[in-house]
Amino acid sequence: MKRLLTFAAVALIAASCAPKPQGVKDAFEGKFYIGTALNAWEITGADTTGVEIVKKHFNSIVAENCMKSEEIHPEENVYNFELADKFVEFGEENDMFIIGHCLVWHSQLAKWFAYDENGEYVTPVVLKQRMKDHITTIMTRYKGRIHGYDVVNEAILEDGSYRKSPFYDILGEEFIPWAFECAHAADPDAELYLNDYGMSDPGRRDGYVKLIKQLQERGLRIDAIGMQAHVGLDYPTLEQFEESLLAFAGTGINVMITEWDMSALPTVNMGANVSDWAEYRKQLDPYKDGLPEEVSAQWNARMKEFMDLFLKHSDVVTRVTAWGVSDEDSWKNGWPIPGRTDYCLLFDRNHEPKPFLNEYLNK
Ligand code: XIL
Repeated sequence: MKRLLTFAAVALIAASCAPKPQGVKDAFEGKFYIGTALNAWEITGADTTGVEIVKKHFNSIVAENCMKSEEIHPEENVYNFELADKFVEFGEENDMFIIGHCLVWHSQLAKWFAYDENGEYVTPVVLKQRMKDHITTIMTRYKGRIHGYDVVNEAILEDGSYRKSPFYDILGEEFIPWAFECAHAADPDAELYLNDYGMSDPGRRDGYVKLIKQLQERGLRIDAIGMQAHVGLDYPTLEQFEESLLAFAGTGINVMITEWDMSALPTVNMGANVSDWAEYRKQLDPYKDGLPEEVSAQWNARMKEFMDLFLKHSDVVTRVTAWGVSDEDSWKNGWPIPGRTDYCLLFDRNHEPKPFLNEYLNK
């Protein structure tokens, strides 16, 4: 009995002496990367507080906007690498797992990309060549430096059918394998991903499982699927989310939580299609002066449930990335209704970690 007590005492002292995790990334060390999207102010260093938080708490980064085609490749023969270069340098200086977002996407698509000088769609041959040039130029520039890419973003709809994007209109389903083929040829060591929102929808889930299998059958490299996880207080259910996570993992590839945020505001749109907007109404923006205690408690409890779900599946979940650093940075303040005040990220407007994170940090 005495020996048992002594053992218990020693264990207790050892536990209390063990260094507590310094940053969020340390709390999840050995489980998955903890990532964030970087905006232009963080990339250029103008947001000094934001940069401090990123260095302390995150070990993976993704560019929020500066690698989308309209920014990085605004005209056919014009590339704008300034911010993307800085973004990659920042990741390298801080030893981070760097993600390129995104190579092929219908939204924030450079205006010239799919059209000829008469404003008509280009031919399949021309579009394939343009996709190849775009992918090859970017991936060659950052070869061995950017570790993984969202190759195709948001290609499948809620019912499992393909989104009718210019890529699909011109090339049909083949645009996806073509993008993966070009990407792998450009940097054979880079990880390649599919990425989308609303992944808990059964139709979209099945559509992606089918697509992953098709890519695999054709011998194309696909490392992971990105579940964006723009979630709300009332959607989706944890069970639906887990069902999709397991269905994706069942294909043998990894799962990444790629754009995590949880809106604390009334839901107006269940998806994340950035071209859908809704009208401002005061009752849809109820927390201008701060989040009431009970809503904050609900938000934190649900975020913890999600994080615990990611931990439960950390054998297949290799990265958890938040879509921004602190609440003031979040795109959700401006979408789907401009001018709202939302509370969806891991750090609040005073740059303090949200309460649910402290439960991991204080372990
Ligand atoms: C968002 C950015 O956060 C905003 O700054 C921009 O105005 C619109 O796009 N799905 C994606 C991301 O894959 O690229 C989107 O990012 C959010 C939805």
